[in-house]
Order: sequence, then C-alpha cells, then structure tokens
Amino acid sequence: MRAQPDPQSATRRIRLGMVGGGDGSFIGAAHRIAARIDDQFELVAGALSSSPERAHASAVKLHINPERSYASYEAMAQAEAQRNDGIDAVVVVTPNHLHVPVARAFAERGIHVICDKPLATSLADAQALAQVVQAHGLLFLLTHTYAGYPMVRQARELVQAGELGELRIVQVEYAQDWLGEPVEQQGNKQAEWRADPQRAGPAGALGDIGTHAYQLARFVSGLQVQELSADLSTFVPGRTLDDHVQAMLRFEGGARGMLWASQVASGACNALRLRVYGTRGSLHFDQEQPEQLWFAPQGQPARLLRRGMAPHSVSLASESRIPAGHPEGYFEAFATLYRDFARAWRGGESGLMPGLRDGLDGMRFIEAVLDSHRQNARWVTL
Ligand SMILES: NC(=O)c1ccc[n+]([C@@H]2O[C@H](COP(=O)([O-])OP(=O)(O)OC[C@H]3O[C@@H](n4cnc5c(N)ncnc54)[C@H](O)[C@@H]3O)[C@@H](O)[C@H]2O)c1
Repeated sequence: MRAQPDPQSATRRIRLGMVGGGDGSFIGAAHRIAARIDDQFELVAGALSSSPERAHASAVKLHINPERSYASYEAMAQAEAQRNDGIDAVVVVTPNHLHVPVARAFAERGIHVICDKPLATSLADAQALAQVVQAHGLLFLLTHTYAGYPMVRQARELVQAGELGELRIVQVEYAQDWLGEPVEQQGNKQAEWRADPQRAGPAGALGDIGTHAYQLARFVSGLQVQELSADLSTFVPGRTLDDHVQAMLRFEGGARGMLWASQVASGACNALRLRVYGTRGSLHFDQEQPEQLWFAPQGQPARLLRRGMAPHSVSLASESRIPAGHPEGYFEAFATLYRDFARAWRGGESGLMPGLRDGLDGMRFIEAVLDSHRQNARWVTL
C-alpha cells in the first residue's frame, strides 16, 4: 500500500492518473480541463481506453510518458502504487459498470479517487466500495458537476440562512433530447453503452441524469427524501432501459416535490432546473443560465441574483474566478469540485465537495425508483 504523501505535498501539484477518457470519449476531457484551471493537478498516467492501441495513442496526444500509459487499469494500479512518484489520485471516467472495480483497485492501494456518477450499478456494490475507501481514510470526489456552480452554492446558502422560511415544495427536472432516436444502434458510442444494462446498470435516464437532478435537489434543499412514487418509461422502440422517469417525492419535515428526467424531450439540451418554495419565498435555478439565480421573497418583486455581485457571502466570493460580467460556466463548476478536492488533499476542509454520501444516496434513489416502478408506482420508503 502507498505510503503517506511526500513532504513536498503542500507545494507540489497533485499527480493524477485517468482511467477512460481516451480519444473519442466525452467527459474525460472536461475533467482534464477542470483539473488544470486552478493549476493544482498534473496528469501523469493513464489507462485511457478499453482498447490498448487507442489508450497509448491517446496518451501520446496528452503528453503522458509512454512508460506510464497502461493497457489496463489493473496494471496501472499495481505499477503506480509502487512508484515513488506514483499518482496521488485516480480519475474514473469509464462507463458505469467499471466505476466500482476501478475505484476499488486504486483505493485498496491507498490511492485517492475522483469518480464520475452514478457511483455504481447497485447499492450493494457502492456500499462495499465505501467501506474500502473509508477503511483506507481516502478522499472521494463524485463529480456531480452542478454542485460546483457558485449560484447553486448560493441557493444552498440562502436556504440554510432561512431566507425561504420552512421549505414546502422542491421541484427538479432534467430534460435532454439526444436519445430521442435509437442512436445507440447508429454508432453513437456514448449512447451505445448507456442503452446496455450490462454497462449502464439497471437505470437509463434515471441513472444518467436523474441522479444529477436528485443530487441537486438534495444539495440545495438539504432535505432527505423519505418516500417516493415513481414511473419509468421507454419511448424509443427496441431500447431496454428507461429513457424517461417521473417521481413524486415526500421529504422529511413534510415538504413535497417532483422529479422528472428525460432524454427524449425533443428540443431540450441540458435543461436542468430547480425550483424551491418555502413559507417566505422561493428560488429558481436554470443550469443553462448558470450565472443567475432567481430569488422571489413572498410579497416582493423577484430579484435576479448574479454571480460575483451582492449579496454573496464571503465564502461564495471565493468560488468564482473572474469578475462578474465575464461569463463562467460548466468547466469552472467542474473545476470548483477539483478545487474542493485539492484543498482537502492539502489538509484543509473538503467543504461542499460531493462524495460517497451523495453516491450512496443516488444509488438508494435509483433502487427505490426501480422498486416503486415495478409495483405500478407504489409509494416506497428510501
Ligand atoms: N459529471 C457529468 O456531468 C457527466 C457527464 C457525462 C458523463 N458522465 C459520466 O462519465 C462516465 C463516462 O461517460 P462518457 O460519456 O465520457 O463515456 P464515453 O463512452 O465517452 O467514454 C468512456 C471511456 O471509457 C473507456 N473505457 C471503457 N472500458 C475501459 C476499460 N476497461 N479501461 C479503460 N478505459 C475504458 C472508453 O474507451 C472511453 O474512453 C459515465 O459514468 C457517465 O455517467 C458524467
């Protein structure tokens, strides 16, 4: 197992290795950009693809030393754990079914984990992984990207400060249209594994974007969901997994809400929206306008809050990187999660970094929705 970080860990960059993210893939590149924005990380190793040839070709393009480009994640975990200059953290950006085995291979060797969502393909696997990570005292960042937006953090802070009063309603939706046709049968690589239960897990849109919506609702409201009633649909013929989910939610303390997530909502791009209503006012966040947050106090005109402008708290001011008016967006939100991780790695607080708890919550949500759906949308307890 890896020894403790070297004495220079306070000043040097954090060494990353990536699994997945090779040529032709999607989210690995976003991770690489995010990791570089604050200059705290360097990518030094990778098992970048399921195809060894593509893995090595991708590593060359990313200027990874050929010695540290691996044909498999198992070989990478073994070799990196033995190097004095081995990676400090692994970034897992593979299809879902590999999240747990890859994260586990590195965690068992004392290497921290940055993993994309959903955490696993079953709650039991997620729990087993969580035990390994906790037993080794490791950091675990689960990249629920939207929790990195300053205005999402602002929303959470307004709720916590009581500006909305007692919460009554939490409505969240995530609408996309890119799976409106059977593109998984037409050579779309990202769609292909997402439509395959062996690689995506038992949930389609539910696991892919429903978990983001769920995490956002929980992150901002701070409320636990106690019960839900859910209905899954598969609109595109020939598809095995759901491409649309709708659920009614009963939160602790009496709040109510709904979640719908769809990848067949024609004309929708990344329409992730959250509305939270309390006894004193409401909030409205729209991911496609991430620099803005509507705050409507009861009986007063609605206010459009903007990143970088009052009434942001001191803590939130540090979540931005550039003065108001120069737009920040998706990459910066991603980078803020990396910044949270870096801060924790250097011995500080991990702050609002999403992690194992969010991942386990997400898996509980998935399994409860599947359970309810199987029973014709019966109410089930989480
Ligand atoms: N945080 C977000 O907003 C966000 C957005 C998109 C995707 N994701 C998640 O990121 C993950 C990847 O999604 P994607 O859209 O980038 O998929 P993708 O198909 O574009 O990329 C997957 C990559 O994993 C590689 N891979 C597969 N098996 C491998 C193996 N055994 N060893 C090494 N590499 C292997 C593939 O070769 C490919 O490079 C998924 O879990 C997805 O849910 C998260």
